[in-house]
Amino acid sequence: MIDSSWTEEAKQAVLEAVTAKYNKVASSPEGLFKYPTGRAGLETLQYDTALLEKLPDEVAAAYCGVGNPFGLGVVEPGQSVLDVGCGAGVDTILAGMMAGPSGRAVGVDVVPAMLERARRNLATIDCCNVYFEEMSAELLPFPERSFDVVISNGAFNLVPDKPRALTEVLRVLKPGGRFQLADQVLTGQQPAAPQARIANWSR
Ligand SMILES: C[S@@+](CC[C@H](N)C(=O)[O-])C[C@H]1O[C@@H](n2cnc3c(N)ncnc32)[C@H](O)[C@@H]1O
Repeated sequence: MIDSSWTEEAKQAVLEAVTAKYNKVASSPEGLFKYPTGRAGLETLQYDTALLEKLPDEVAAAYCGVGNPFGLGVVEPGQSVLDVGCGAGVDTILAGMMAGPSGRAVGVDVVPAMLERARRNLATIDCCNVYFEEMSAELLPFPERSFDVVISNGAFNLVPDKPRALTEVLRVLKPGGRFQLADQVLTGQQPAAPQARIANWSR
């Protein structure tokens, strides 16, 4: 799932495959990935233990990130953070905790079921600076220079038009802002046909 040359039909096929998979993940990611998910995943990836203690078990259980975007830098109090492909919102909620009441964290995702889970997760926490909105990484309708930090965890590999998504990230970042990306890459020769590539991605 690579570049700007994909047809609209191929992009639609990717979106349908992503939606089908994440409709299931929204209930529980357990057993649906080849890496640890839930609280075990957060601990393996060495998230801040003091923050993890504040996460209710049902929120931690929804985590399915591939890396720790905060390993590249912490969010300072008062900063504004965008989480691209927020899923069930665990990273977004942690970013909101770090940003504190004078900052904010916004999570965006393309699968409504994941956003519903993110909002349910948020409702279990005493936190008023975290927001979730439905949108694609390829079109982020925020004014330019809106965020101090953009994070993304396991989402860019699912975005068909990565150059466009990256352009959007750079547009909404403030000067001197940081893009902290955790992701996975499929290596080796890939088949040309979109359906075959989609099958490879979900192996
Ligand atoms: C691995 S999950 C994110 C995990 C999340 N960071 C957490 O804290 O558990 C990847 C997410 O990317 C979302 N996604 C896939 N394609 C997207 C796109 N084009 N735009 C926005 N989000 C997308 C999926 O719906 C999924 O929820």
